[in-house]
This record gives sequence, structure tokens and C-alpha cells, in this order.
Amino acid sequence: MSFDNHEQIVFCNDKDTGLKAIIGIHNTVLGPALGGTRMWNYTSEWEALNDVLRLSRGMTYKSAITGLNLGGGKAVLIGDAKTQKTPELMLKFGEFVHSLGGKYITAEDVGMATSDMDLVRTVTPYVTGISESKGGAGNPSPITAYGVFMGMKAAAKYTFGSELLEDKVIYVQGIGNVGEALVENLSNEGAKVYISDINQERLEEVRDKYSVEIYGGSNLYAEKMDIYAPCALGATINDFTINQLNTKIIAGAANNQLAEEQKHGKMLREKGIVYAPDFLINAGGIINVYAELENYDRKEIMRKTENIYNTTLEILKKADNDNITTHQAAFNIAQARIDARKSEK
Ligand SMILES: NC(=O)c1ccc[n+]([C@@H]2O[C@H](COP(=O)([O-])OP(=O)(O)OC[C@H]3O[C@@H](n4cnc5c(N)ncnc54)[C@H](O)[C@@H]3O)[C@@H](O)[C@H]2O)c1
Repeated sequence: MSFDNHEQIVFCNDKDTGLKAIIGIHNTVLGPALGGTRMWNYTSEWEALNDVLRLSRGMTYKSAITGLNLGGGKAVLIGDAKTQKTPELMLKFGEFVHSLGGKYITAEDVGMATSDMDLVRTVTPYVTGISESKGGAGNPSPITAYGVFMGMKAAAKYTFGSELLEDKVIYVQGIGNVGEALVENLSNEGAKVYISDINQERLEEVRDKYSVEIYGGSNLYAEKMDIYAPCALGATINDFTINQLNTKIIAGAANNQLAEEQKHGKMLREKGIVYAPDFLINAGGIINVYAELENYDRKEIMRKTENIYNTTLEILKKADNDNITTHQAAFNIAQARIDARKSEK
């Protein structure tokens, strides 16, 4: 169901290292398909395939709306990153990436660290998100978080008339690499932050570091809040959660937050919840890794990421003017850029 004219899907298997991966290349009209590698304990290959199809497609539109000359791709590794990720497995995966000759360029995503990309770099140049000490732009997560912060501020400006998040009640779901950095930005601004995660140790660590509160209830979606920030996995906005949501804004880092883009985008609009499209506001990471290909510096990375504020505000207004969902408004602009390049070609 998630096939959307994907250009190429590659299944990678290696018995010796236990590697089971799928690389999804959605679209390469604007440039090589760049997108991170996710390692997750999928319950089946179908689940992994579905994820890579959705994620790679998302990357196409993320790069397009951000104005980058990149296509959309993504890779998923099937397995537990904590127990099954070995150097041998990562190197084998790098060889598969290399075999695509640059059509797909990888980076880190859930379950991956900068050091994993450094390892992949020893077998292929088609990798980004490598350490600064090795000439890369380093961990993209803090930049992703900063972009989400900018998008959230734009949504606040649009909804409350002020971009200031001081005293706003914000629930951050998932406090991994991006979530934690977002919590830091939010607590610096004086927001009232609640955190939730399936990892109790991390919850306590982040709570102690930023003086935020751990959410102790059993159904976060029904809590009254100003902003819900999904920063774990996708599809948390679905038939089940949407009717319970008691928030004014949704703005977070997770990819593919809407389980069904059209249907759930519309339901949010009808409920009066302002949704900052995920692929628009979580583009900081790709802006950061793109710097490795285009050789721009930190200042330019921050300028481009800060601009997410302007683009988000524009999109929210455009959705209102055109009476369409915010997701559709962002999508239309991205698609127009791809179509224009295609006809130039
Ligand atoms: N890292 C980036 O630069 C980047 C860029 C764009 C988008 N994203 C997206 O942002 C999200 C987070 O990425 P990350 O790099 O921080 O990943 P991460 O693996 O570092 O963190 C994910 C966190 O979510 C938690 N989690 C998982 N399931 C959960 C659940 N059901 N409820 C609550 N918490 C749960 C995990 O325990 C973990 O702490 C992902 O969807 C990713 O695709 C990341």
C-alpha cells in the first residue's frame, strides 16, 4: 500500500554477518537519493518494507521543500541495534550502499550513531553524517532539533500570535538524540516540558539534566497541552489518537507522523489543531549532512535551518488561504519543484 512509484527497492542479505536490509530509492529527479539508515527490530520483512517505502518517499518531499538538490531514499536494517549491530554488519551494509554507485547516499537515523557512519565511510564515499574529526558535519540531531524548534515557534506565532514558548505546556514523546536536544531548546526558553519515552533510564537522565517533568500518566494523547511534539516513531496521529488529542499544535521530529496523510491531515484541520508538517520542520538533519556534499559551513547550516521558521509560517497561512491541509500545502510546493525540474530535464 505504501508503493508510490518508487524507482528502486533493494533487498540486501548476508548470511555471515546476519545483515538483512532494504534500501528504498523513491525519486532521484532532484539529485541522488539521500536518507538515513534506521535499525529497528521489525516484526516482519513486510513491516520493514512498509517503513522504508514511507520513509524514502518522505525524504523526496523533505529535500524538495527545503530547496536541496537531493532525491529521496532511506535504508532499514532489520534487527536490534543494541544487540545485533556489529562492525562487520555495518561494513557489509556499506558495501551494498557502494554497489548502487551513488544513486543512494546514506546517513544516520534511529538506531545509528555518527561512529557507524564513520565505519561505513571506510568502504564507500556514499555516506554522510560522519564525524567532524573525520571531515564530516557531525551528528545531525541537534540541528534537526533546532529546525523543529523553529517550526514549533512559527506554529506558535500562527496560533497564539507570539513565537515565545515560555510557559507553554509541551509534551515531547521520545527523548532520543533529537528529542533531548529539543527539550534543551524548550527548557532554555522557559516552556513547561513533559517528557515520555519507553526507556526509563533516559527519562531520568533527561529530567535531571534539564529540570523537566516525566509524564507519569498512561495516555499522553488525552492530556491537555499546548503543543504535542512526536519525536519517537511515526504514525502516532491515527484513528485511535486523533479523537483524544487535546492539543492546539502538533510539531515534532518524527517522520511520517500522520498514519494516513490525507485522512488524518483533514481530521486535524477539522479539529482546529495546527499541524506543522513533519517533513518540513525536521529537515535540519538533512541540511546538516547536505553541507558535506556541497561544502557549506556551519553558519550556512544554521541560516538554512533557521529559515524553517519562515517556510512553516508561509505554509500554515497558505493552507488557510487555499482551504487545504497544511500537509497538502507543503506537499504541493515540493511536488511543483520536482515537476519543474523534470520538465527542464
Ligand atoms: N536524527 C535526526 O537528525 C532526524 C532527522 C529527521 C527526522 N528524525 C526522526 O526523528 C525521530 C527521532 O529520531 P532520533 O534520531 O532522536 O532517534 P533515537 O533512536 O535517538 O530516539 C528515539 C527515542 O524514541 C523512544 N521511543 C521509541 N518508541 C517510543 C514510544 N512508543 N513512546 C515513547 N518513546 C519511544 C526511544 O526509546 C528513543 O529514546 C525519528 O522518527 C527519526 O526518523 C531524526
